[in-house]
Amino acid sequence: MKVLVIGGGAREHALCRSLSLDPEVTSLHCAPGNAGIAEVAELHPVDALDGAAVADLAVRLGADLVVVGPEAPLVAGVADAVRERGVDCFGPSREAAALEGSKAFAKDVMAAAGVPTARSYVCTTPEEIDTALDAFGAPYVVKDDGLAAGKGVVVTGDLAVARAHALACDRVVIEEYLDGPEVSLFAVTDGETVLPLQPAQDFKRSLDGDEGPNTGGMGAYSPLPWADPKLVDEVARTVLQPTVDELRRRGTPFAGLLYAGLAITSRGVRVIEFNARFGDPETQVVLARLRTPLAGLLRAAATGQLATLPELRWSDGAAVTVVIASHNYPDTPRTGDPITGLADVAAHDDHAYVLHAGTRTAQDGQIVSAGGRVLSVTATGSTLAKARERAYRGVARITLDGSHHRTDIAAKAATPPHQ
Ligand code: AMP
Ligand code: GLY
Repeated sequence: MKVLVIGGGAREHALCRSLSLDPEVTSLHCAPGNAGIAEVAELHPVDALDGAAVADLAVRLGADLVVVGPEAPLVAGVADAVRERGVDCFGPSREAAALEGSKAFAKDVMAAAGVPTARSYVCTTPEEIDTALDAFGAPYVVKDDGLAAGKGVVVTGDLAVARAHALACDRVVIEEYLDGPEVSLFAVTDGETVLPLQPAQDFKRSLDGDEGPNTGGMGAYSPLPWADPKLVDEVARTVLQPTVDELRRRGTPFAGLLYAGLAITSRGVRVIEFNARFGDPETQVVLARLRTPLAGLLRAAATGQLATLPELRWSDGAAVTVVIASHNYPDTPRTGDPITGLADVAAHDDHAYVLHAGTRTAQDGQIVSAGGRVLSVTATGSTLAKARERAYRGVARITLDGSHHRTDIAAKAATPPHQ
């Protein structure tokens, strides 16, 4: 099978790595990719947001399957453009991707499908904003309606900060604060059949102890030893399947990866948000544990064949990933800094590897930082504690001037009584 992956972050590197290990994949391509993906796939300098260019590339390569990684091309209709040219594509249509592209649309779908989520108001005027903030009280949760790379959400006890963020958005969702641990649960779906993957937990704040601003994600681990073993079945039944059924009912079936960001509150599971694609950095740990070959799974979803697949197979072990971010991320990150020690990680440990996000190869051949989240070190082990130790040993081998990472990824979950 010839596969073309669209995107160029750590998620796409994780996807390409898994696809490169799948014996069914005979040739692997990525556009635009990054310096790390270049080691496992042939790169093509095509703009991921340009549907016609992506579709042309897929046809020219004779791709059997295109996998669209990030949300922006999905919301821009890139998967539709590929399918229109007769190429199978893993990734929802533009209309179905609105589940991520518009928080107000997601709330509407959830209400229609009876999916539990935070109560919310959609506001467009200062009066509506003040009424909503007043109705819920602190802590305030204020969300820009559109895509904002994980940074459009402000959760604060400070009314003035909440109000200022709300006023800066064209359309804003103000909602009830959800208390409790967060879980990311992905499901592969063909628009009808829903196959949940293993749950993971992401660390969204930039600093240890969940301090600092929200980021795109600073690390993740899987499995979740503290979670109820029935969680996945419950979420599949109460959240994932009803959402997929509702989108099909509306004539805009969702085929691709449905990502539910959940809060486990004292009153039960609630959806914080939906995403229309694999999450980053959770994908790094979920795919590290998936034993079922990835290409066949994604193609089955793209072609409406998921019901015919045997049950997914998983490693019993654990995986941990730690993101190394550049100086000043998530504000204005500094780029162009040289990175060293990349090859040392896997050279010293068969169970650890580096996935590139914001990297590029400079003219002198040196790999340098090119974005906010630069790379993630991923490791597996029989327990979370072992996987965690390996991931941090890998992080210690890498140098990137001014970089920072969290030191507490999976720390609580890896500590008894969970392990
Ligand atoms: P989102 O982009 O919707 O995932 O929000 C980013 C982060 O903000 C989430 O991962 C949560 O940590 C936090 N958040 C979002 N909505 C809520 C809520 N209703 N209650 C508490 N925290 C929230
Ligand atoms: N891990 C958060 C996201 O992918 O949106």
